[in-house]
Amino acid sequence: MKVTVVGAGAVGASCAEYIAIKNFASEVVLLDIKEGYAEGKAMDLMQTASLNGFDTKITGSTNDYSKTAGSDIAVITSGIPRKPGMTREELIGINAGIVKAVSTSLVEHSPNVILIVVSNPMDTMTYLAHKVTGLPKNRIIGMGGALDSARFKYRLAEALGAPISDVDGMVIGGHSDKGMVPLTRLATRNSVPVSEYISEGRLQQVLEDTKVGGATLTKLLGTSAWYAPGAAVSGLVQAIACDQKKIFPCSTLLDGEYGLSGLCIGVPVVLGRNGIEKIVEINLSDAEKAHLEESAAGVKKTNALLDA
Ligand code: 2OP
Repeated sequence: MKVTVVGAGAVGASCAEYIAIKNFASEVVLLDIKEGYAEGKAMDLMQTASLNGFDTKITGSTNDYSKTAGSDIAVITSGIPRKPGMTREELIGINAGIVKAVSTSLVEHSPNVILIVVSNPMDTMTYLAHKVTGLPKNRIIGMGGALDSARFKYRLAEALGAPISDVDGMVIGGHSDKGMVPLTRLATRNSVPVSEYISEGRLQQVLEDTKVGGATLTKLLGTSAWYAPGAAVSGLVQAIACDQKKIFPCSTLLDGEYGLSGLCIGVPVVLGRNGIEKIVEINLSDAEKAHLEESAAGVKKTNALLDA
């Protein structure tokens, strides 16, 4: 299993590290435009192999896509991260050109590749990858919901005073501060709805804290987060590489599912060796449906900037 990670910045390097430590991929190619940067990160990571006990071979390349040839999966993290006070949508001007060039180069060298888009604004960048590559929709996946769901579980566990392993929850919708839809109604602590344990008001605070989870970290760090984004995308890579048939909320091109079409947005999907094996349509409450539709309108508004 060959995996390419484009962008050897904090998110890309964390993703490569988590993939290596999980030891399911034979090879990870880390690629960056900065001279020597990917090579250095790859070498540093390889020097942890005996310490972290993995056999994965990590190599780095300065923008030589021939080294990515034959990749089964490619993760796109390249582009600029946001600064405190910025929205993800404000990154479109620079990141659209980068994602367009990167997607095209990846597919040119790996025609059978499954693309996972991380670069922001992620739902729009995922949609852009469809427009420029023409890959079948099961082979283009946007990573946002897996990260947002991890932050949702973190906030739920905090509110419940529970171990995170006891908690489950999912966030659908756009990967944006206003567009996320944390499914508080369906969240559970050890199979019991969390509403049995915490008040509606506290649950609303969990929902609000989840939606600004990225912005909260950007304010603290001065740049976007990287550990959880890297870990979240490594989980999607593993589900595909190991044909796990796991369900994750991922940004995928909709064609009528949830009453939505012509955009990429986060909904539950089954991930396996073919990428998106199935879009899972769950029953949503009227309020959840309204939030998802509102989120979709926001994503489409950002998509329209691609043609502006
Ligand atoms: C985040 O939410 C980078 O969009 C990513 O941290």
